[in-house]
Amino acid sequence: RSIDAFKIHLPQVAVFGGLRLALGQSYTLRWSLAGNISDKFDCYPGLDASREACEELGCVWAEDTSNLDVPYCYYSSADNGYSITELRYSASGATANLTFDQGSRKAFERATPPISTLALEVKYHSNHLLQFKIYDWAKPRYEVPVPLNLPAAPEGSDRERLYDLVLRRKPFGVQVRRRSTGTVIWDSQLPTFTFSDQFLQISTRLPSHFLYGFGEQEHRSFRRDLAWHTWGMFTRDQPPGYKLNSYGVHPYYMALEEDGNAHGVLLLNSNAMDVTFQPTPALTYRTVGGILDFYMVLGPTPEMVVQEYTQLVGRPVLPPYWALGFQLCRYGYANDSEIEALVEAMKAAGIPHDVQYSDIDYMQRQMDFTLSPRFSGLPALIEKMQREGMRFVLILDPAIAANDSHYLAFERGLQEDIFIKWPNSSDIVYGKVWPDLPNVEVNNSLDWDTQVELYRAYAAFPDFFRGSTQRWWEREITEVYSNPRNASLSMRFDGIWIDMNEPSSFVNGAVGGCRDRELNFPPYLPQLGSRSQGLSFKTLCMEAEQLLPDGSPLRHYDVHNLYGWAQTKPTLDTLQKLTKERGIVVTRSTYPSSGRWAGHWLGDNTAAWDQLDKSIIGMMDFSLFGISYTGADICGFFGDSEYELCARWMELGAFYPYSRNHNGNTGRRQDPVSWNSTFEALSRTVLNLRYSLLPYLYTLMFEAHAHGSTVVRPLLHEFVGDRETWDISHQFLWGPALLISPALEQGIREVNAYFPPARWYDLHTDQDVGFRGEFRSLPAPLGHINLHIRGGYILARQGPANTTFYSRQNPLHLTVALSDSLRAQGSLYWDDGVRIAAYEDGVYLLTSFTATQNALEIRVLHRGYVDPNNLKFNQVKVLGVASAAGNVTVTQGGQQIASPHVVSYDSQKQVLDVTGLELELGQDYKLEWS
Ligand code: GLC
Repeated sequence: RSIDAFKIHLPQVAVFGGLRLALGQSYTLRWSLAGNISDKFDCYPGLDASREACEELGCVWAEDTSNLDVPYCYYSSADNGYSITELRYSASGATANLTFDQGSRKAFERATPPISTLALEVKYHSNHLLQFKIYDWAKPRYEVPVPLNLPAAPEGSDRERLYDLVLRRKPFGVQVRRRSTGTVIWDSQLPTFTFSDQFLQISTRLPSHFLYGFGEQEHRSFRRDLAWHTWGMFTRDQPPGYKLNSYGVHPYYMALEEDGNAHGVLLLNSNAMDVTFQPTPALTYRTVGGILDFYMVLGPTPEMVVQEYTQLVGRPVLPPYWALGFQLCRYGYANDSEIEALVEAMKAAGIPHDVQYSDIDYMQRQMDFTLSPRFSGLPALIEKMQREGMRFVLILDPAIAANDSHYLAFERGLQEDIFIKWPNSSDIVYGKVWPDLPNVEVNNSLDWDTQVELYRAYAAFPDFFRGSTQRWWEREITEVYSNPRNASLSMRFDGIWIDMNEPSSFVNGAVGGCRDRELNFPPYLPQLGSRSQGLSFKTLCMEAEQLLPDGSPLRHYDVHNLYGWAQTKPTLDTLQKLTKERGIVVTRSTYPSSGRWAGHWLGDNTAAWDQLDKSIIGMMDFSLFGISYTGADICGFFGDSEYELCARWMELGAFYPYSRNHNGNTGRRQDPVSWNSTFEALSRTVLNLRYSLLPYLYTLMFEAHAHGSTVVRPLLHEFVGDRETWDISHQFLWGPALLISPALEQGIREVNAYFPPARWYDLHTDQDVGFRGEFRSLPAPLGHINLHIRGGYILARQGPANTTFYSRQNPLHLTVALSDSLRAQGSLYWDDGVRIAAYEDGVYLLTSFTATQNALEIRVLHRGYVDPNNLKFNQVKVLGVASAAGNVTVTQGGQQIASPHVVSYDSQKQVLDVTGLELELGQDYKLEWS
């Protein structure tokens, strides 16, 4: 196997750690010499470099046939042409001018001349947060209109700051060091730095090879591979696939330093960009507009990095309790009766099912806010399901059909002037998406492009930045919810799924094409695939004009990546205004801070085995981005799922925070009742397990919302001291305490799982596994998912039921997993599950649990909610009790109380089980056993 060298800060010393070479065995160690290859910075990024073009730029051309990914054309000197003048340090940062020496032009600067004077502004916002911003000194440029939470005045003190800043004068560079260790975590004094109108480039050396984040793309491992890879970032209707940029954009990474300290870096830029990773280790950003506005958080732990990042961009939304239930969806339900029959079959099979969806099928010709005659029974079905404790979610797409003279949504949109137009013009930019023309008979046997041409209607795109659009959107959605023309058609949905909001279009740019070459084919085209189509591939023309609420114009070129972002908050606001409850919005396109209002599914995956581990990596990526309500389409969207794949996916998907089985319109059915009774049983078992853990999951969602911690937690976030965890991609934790080790390959009946250094108990057997800090092969028969509870933690659990409406009324249990030092702790957040701002308004209950070898204390920390169901803990199970235990006493306020219970102790398993208890939720208790 291969390991990485520890790099330490002495010159010319390589230290190889983490080896575990057993004494008494023979080994050979081989190491590779990076030489200076890894130091090459690409001087001609893109595909069309040639010796001639390269040398003309003053760069060096050297073909390296041993590794085709190494740039052939690279910078020969360290100079970047910019130097610092007018440098002023202050107590809270620094300002300077950066002046370009016109004599030193190279690279893309020919096509787009560097701006001669730039302004640099560094702000020490707090002890852990630093911003540095580089922009045109003379002329205002586009800046991202996404609000961040920055302290009004600098916080913290010079003495306690975690970082030091060093500005390099010539060539210009920014260096940031972690003060406690001296590690340089950012160093941009490199030849690549340049800043022109349409090409901005900056590189930094990284402190290690341990880099995580950037998105949205599909990756093969959670840790990013630095062996020369470039990743495009531009929101696009692009199903997950290798090296393809998908729906969202997150120019954000987390890096580990060699000693395990962690930091995070956001580039607040919303233009099309790419980032190149190289083994130096270093990375290079290239963006086609805006400014360079960096925010760094210094952790120092990975979990603190997420907390600090979400403090900056906003904490993840707290979904309603029901949204943690299991969900079913498909594109292609024939009519409402098919949905009804499915719901009934799930109920009859006793499989938990909280949320049902309807995809665009419910619409007439896929037009938003309409109802197809085939689904005329849907309004009544939704209400029937709600009476039985279920919830319903409807899809909405942004594009509005424009060929129907009587389509109110379009008519009103025209009146209220909400659509994206050509610049300096009153003409709408028309694309095509799902909506079909009136009076067409769709022939599905024709190829896609012909169908788009023949059947799809023109579609106009609402500009969600405008106040008028937000009001229009609210009104149209309101009329679906309470239909003013026919009350019996009102659809009382509980959540909204917003799709196609990259925005996606089935024609490139616009019907009839784009007009502005410079914007659609900028001098540097980030590496996004489909180069021949430029930036408007599958979306709008870049020259399309949008407007900020104050009327100032924006180019789609600059705000393309913010389309879905801008739609998200207005959608949640409308939903909550209508339902008067905390609903969920699930959005396909995201940008930093989208997690404040919505969850995200990982898009149109394929029913294939490789999608299982990709989904874990995807969720862990989104944990870093501050979006905690995530999951992939269980059993796969494209293609036919197959029995074992779907079974394993149900097992894994039961541990997605957003647990939805969703299917494309061509594949075979893949819901749990579409296979056989064995499949039903397996689904029932694993979903019951999920439901029994929902109080713990909900508490984690609360902690993410309140404090910014992660829900789907990478192992390294809990065990950063153990380098083995830095590379784990196929297992994940729920919070600190539950380790999930799913089976991800066809045919396997064993899982090779890593156990970080802690005490672990098998959740199924309650038994201490007795090993740690090693990989172990675990039995994983079909129907069994390996789950382990970490010693030191207490999980609040509850009996399952078919919906959370009923499970929320069941008795609670506590599983106490003692650590090596025979202690454990945990907590439970509880509210009514739907109240808007329950936490912010204090209308919740927060209970803490603390255990020692012979006692458990239940203490209410916040008593703002009384559950109407008279909930009680009726069982306390203590794992890891080494000596026979019994004789339980219960006290309240120091007074022993009479409390029913039955005690049993299993000496083989070392489990103390106290059942028959009646400890009321919302009361303090102490349990002691001898
Ligand atoms: C997009 C969505 C998918 C949905 C389909 C039809 O492909 O990603 O989830 O089913 O559109 O609306």
